[in-house]
Amino acid sequence: EKGTYPYYMLKEIDEQPAVMRNIIQKYQNAEGRLTVPEELTTAMLEADRIHIVACGTSYHSGWVGKHYLEKIAQIPTEVHVASEFSYNPPLLKGNPFFIFLTQSGETADSRQVLVKVKEWGYPALTITNVAGSTLSREADYTLLLHAGPEIAVASTKAYTAQIAVLAVLSDALGARMGHDMGIDMVHELGIVANAMEAVIDDKERIAELADIYLPNTRNAFYIGRGLDYFVSMEAALKLKEISYIQTEGFAAGELKHGTIALIEEGTPVLAIITQADVASHTRGNVEEVRSRGANTCVFAMEGLANENDQIILPAVHPALAPLMTVVPTQLMAYYATLHRGYDVDKPRNLAKSVTVE
Ligand code: F6R
Repeated sequence: EKGTYPYYMLKEIDEQPAVMRNIIQKYQNAEGRLTVPEELTTAMLEADRIHIVACGTSYHSGWVGKHYLEKIAQIPTEVHVASEFSYNPPLLKGNPFFIFLTQSGETADSRQVLVKVKEWGYPALTITNVAGSTLSREADYTLLLHAGPEIAVASTKAYTAQIAVLAVLSDALGARMGHDMGIDMVHELGIVANAMEAVIDDKERIAELADIYLPNTRNAFYIGRGLDYFVSMEAALKLKEISYIQTEGFAAGELKHGTIALIEEGTPVLAIITQADVASHTRGNVEEVRSRGANTCVFAMEGLANENDQIILPAVHPALAPLMTVVPTQLMAYYATLHRGYDVDKPRNLAKSVTVE
């Protein structure tokens, strides 16, 4: 039930801090550590490569998951768009392990890859919001998102829940391998939940920014580097699928290799800056497009922000920044769509779960 909310999407955006806390609680053991079933970590530690397979928003969370599995658990990881897998299959040697990311657990493109993977005899984990869903039943292991039903077609809380569960999984793997990379995951995810709440409390400001930066525009760009690039891809999908503004998420440094030709007077470019090692480079790219007329809007994390930035986000552990930075981009998409008068929860041409290939 959406209760007093005008749209499910806003309700589901608002639920994200509670979802983070719920995930901590569901995955915490009696000693307070985050754990997943031991047979799962055992199977994953036998693997020499992980392949993440997903579509759409789940594909975008997969990129953040790759970062965790490589940085925290130290296992080489690839990310695949499910519908491309058959045509561009990865070279499978040694002991691959597959992770299917799917909110619904029913996506046909992902399922057809799982069917192949099981034919080949490789182990598979499904991370899903729906217990008993097809991809959950057909995989060897399941981790649940514990996000509660997601009704709005545009996925919000499933994206952040997927990233949080991938962080939990990586942390559990790292712990078994004897390195946690210095992240106290329970503590840091708790900080993320509070930061999300602060961003959501500031939604009026984001509604104003949506008016200022995404008025009658036909196109827009989100840019970032590293983890901020992954969020840019998701931010762009969210904006385009409900507001119909043609939006691209771009690696900030790649823009100058062609796409910058599209920047003209007033083109909105929204930049995400949360990673210290690349912040000055992304700022350089913001200047590049601003000098060509772009209407730039910077979302920067405290510590890396300056007073001209449009949104200053609370500080969280940089590795977990995507969980927090995606929230204002979800709200931007929501308000840009509301201001255009479209049905936020039911964008044209789309269904909640895509059960055809
Ligand atoms: C976008 C969106 C879709 C889904 C995609 C995969 O907001 O919801 O891109 O993420 O269709 O769906 P699942 O995760 O159910 O496999």
